[in-house]
Amino acid sequence: MIITIDGPAAAGKGTLAQKLADKYNLAYFDTGMVYRAVGIDLVSNGIAPDNVAEAEKSAQNMTFSKMLELAQNPDFRSSVGGQAASKVAAMPKVREALLKMQQDFAKKPIAKDGSLIAGVVYDGRDTGTTVCPQAEVKLFVTASPEVRAMRRHKEYLQKGLPSVYEEVLAQTKERDLRDSSRAASPLKPADDAIIIDTSDMGIDEVFAKVCRIVDERL
Ligand code: C5P
Repeated sequence: MIITIDGPAAAGKGTLAQKLADKYNLAYFDTGMVYRAVGIDLVSNGIAPDNVAEAEKSAQNMTFSKMLELAQNPDFRSSVGGQAASKVAAMPKVREALLKMQQDFAKKPIAKDGSLIAGVVYDGRDTGTTVCPQAEVKLFVTASPEVRAMRRHKEYLQKGLPSVYEEVLAQTKERDLRDSSRAASPLKPADDAIIIDTSDMGIDEVFAKVCRIVDERL
């Protein structure tokens, strides 16, 4: 079974995806990591993330293990990583180069303990439209920019990272605009996606709702 969860940053996709993966014994692929890996690869080498030629080169040489290595960089999950990722993600050839790696994961999904399992939860922006249009369950999880920025802001503070809410909100809106206005695979729900607005919902409520949807499909 393949479940795709797309939506804007900090809508609650990651937590939901992990809970679903645990409950239904599925592997989990956070596809934002492939773009963060290219972004951090550039930034950590002193290259601007809007350098198209360098971003394309990095994407063409990206592998799953290199991505996991780059994920150890302290900036990988920070706003630096997020902004760099959304810049390289707007480049069509970067997306093209990183697509196969994401699609191949569903052919041989690996569980946390290294064993093979028969399914994947994908989380990203275009996983239901481009990466896995054949998915059995497609969700589009969203929330207002203010709610999402507040969640991200609290996350940064909890991790001990410096954060100013107004700046996180401005970055959230900037990233939304870049992700949804780009030419290649823009952020938008698949025609057959179920849209879930989590602005006024806690994770337990969202999880229960999605489990009902998945159980029906099963
Ligand atoms: O989800 P995350 O915040 O890690 O994603 C970082 C960036 O990667 C997003 O802002 C988006 O530009 C890009 N992305 C994408 N397609 C995906 C996943 C992420 O374009 N499937």
